[in-house]
Amino acid sequence: MDIKGKVVIVTGASSGIGEATAREFGREGANVVLAARRVDRLQTLAQEIHSMNTGAETLVIQADLSKLEDIQMLVSQTLERFKRIDVLINNAGFGRLDWLEKLDPVNDIQAQMDVNVMGVIQTTRQVLPVMMKQRAGSIINMCSMAGLVATPTYTIYAASKHAVHGFSEALRREVKPWGIDVSLIYPGGVITEFNQHAGIKRKTNAATPKFMLLTAEQVAQAVVKLVRRPRRMWIIPWLWSVTMFMNRFVPGFVDYTTINRFTIPEREDELKEK
Ligand SMILES: NC(=O)c1ccc[n+]([C@@H]2O[C@H](COP(=O)([O-])OP(=O)(O)OC[C@H]3O[C@@H](n4cnc5c(N)ncnc54)[C@H](OP(=O)(O)O)[C@@H]3O)[C@@H](O)[C@H]2O)c1
Repeated sequence: MDIKGKVVIVTGASSGIGEATAREFGREGANVVLAARRVDRLQTLAQEIHSMNTGAETLVIQADLSKLEDIQMLVSQTLERFKRIDVLINNAGFGRLDWLEKLDPVNDIQAQMDVNVMGVIQTTRQVLPVMMKQRAGSIINMCSMAGLVATPTYTIYAASKHAVHGFSEALRREVKPWGIDVSLIYPGGVITEFNQHAGIKRKTNAATPKFMLLTAEQVAQAVVKLVRRPRRMWIIPWLWSVTMFMNRFVPGFVDYTTINRFTIPEREDELKEK
């Protein structure tokens, strides 16, 4: 797909991967719809995209992706301005990473599912009739390695990303005859504001090894490539595929290492308590 002049919606464009992705589409001369709650950040990004002089137009929309009425408004305003939607990047999302019994039922559990799952489903549901009518479109869903391998403290986040995985797989098989491509991307650790919202305080130094960490720009470039050349799934960096295969074929080993190298050392004080 030639990206110049295409209409691209990027959700969660106010920081991290979404911001870098919107910038990348702007650089390619696409018309970018920037959606998130922090509208000041979106406006700054829109100015930056205009200053690139690539012919890219922008539309800033303040939207809370957990609210259906905001999603409907996002889609209707996009159509009013650009008359079509070529690409949807379902990126908005966050993780609250803690032991399940410590997560707040509403603010952590429900809120994560509302944005990470329902936000993706409802946004796609609103955009789909437009793409079906066009007989063309590209949908890229931001998954995560947590959508393939679930580790302790990631219960809800992993559930949400597994849901995105299943939703996207079924959707891909539903909409292909209409000329619509659905691609899934599974990044490992990416340097963004994600951890600031995650509320994690680890005792052990279990974290993504530095050489495996990605920048938001690297993920953004991969997202743009997926629009040009759709793929069922893209795990980045590819080395994480090893973890996926181990989880599938030697799950007992993965259980043993996560329990003994992570859960028990992290919770040893609590385990000693009577
Ligand atoms: N960082 C990682 O290691 C990593 C790895 C794999 C996958 N991911 C996924 O990548 C995506 C982007 O995360 P990031 O790492 O770039 O984190 P980030 O820098 O914290 O960005 C998250 C984005 O999501 C938006 N968002 C959150 N709640 C929203 C809501 N209710 N309504 C609208 N927008 C909302 C935020 O905008 P506002 O707060 O302004 O609304 C922000 O633009 C997420 O889906 C995440 O799960 C991240």
